[in-house]
Amino acid sequence: MGILINNAGFGNRGTFLQVPLAAELDMLKVHVEAVLRLTAAALPGMRERGFGGVVNVASVAAFVPRGTYGATKAWVVSFTQGVARDVAGSGVRLMALCPGFVHTEFHQRAGMGTKNIPAWGWLSADRVVDEAMRDLAHGRAVSVPSKRYKLVVALARALPIGRLGKMSSMAGRKY
Ligand SMILES: NC(=O)c1ccc[n+]([C@@H]2O[C@H](COP(=O)([O-])OP(=O)(O)OC[C@H]3O[C@@H](n4cnc5c(N)ncnc54)[C@H](OP(=O)(O)O)[C@@H]3O)[C@@H](O)[C@H]2O)c1
Repeated sequence: MGILINNAGFGNRGTFLQVPLAAELDMLKVHVEAVLRLTAAALPGMRERGFGGVVNVASVAAFVPRGTYGATKAWVVSFTQGVARDVAGSGVRLMALCPGFVHTEFHQRAGMGTKNIPAWGWLSADRVVDEAMRDLAHGRAVSVPSKRYKLVVALARALPIGRLGKMSSMAGRKY
């Protein structure tokens, strides 16, 4: 296998106490357990052949304290960075892809409104894929497509966690 892309994912509409526990547990299965199992299945063969890549699709939400979705994506980033270090020098690359808002069926399927998302916040799937492939070729362990979202992530990393959580829950009320 040349490249494994763990892309499957979904959102649950509402705050933690509004979402049924079963739906949150399903999210852990898809965003965490499936990524763990598929990465574990693919890596030994890739390492033996001395080449291959694993792209785990996370989100900019990984850098913001915002319920189960952000928490699972934070796990994806941390897991990917850790395993990328474990296999460094073997010819196998791992990268967590962290897009902002992307035009797909994601929000519609989750029943989330999008009218409060500003136009500047949207990226096309083509752009995300192009930048991700470039970052993978450069050996980056984390890819944040577009300058605007690189800035968002840099700010999120610099702000105190309490301040960030307050801002993110205010944004959450707009859905
Ligand atoms: N769109 C955004 O704004 C955005 C931003 C950041 C990160 N992401 C991440 O990008 C990834 C792709 O999402 P998308 O934006 O392309 O959304 P999408 O258009 O809704 O596609 C979601 C994909 O995930 C699969 N999937 C959903 N729930 C599943 C489940 N329970 N079991 C197995 N497969 C499941 C779907 O398969 P089926 O079609 O077969 O159901 C589909 O291929 C996700 O990991 C998402 O968290 C999206």
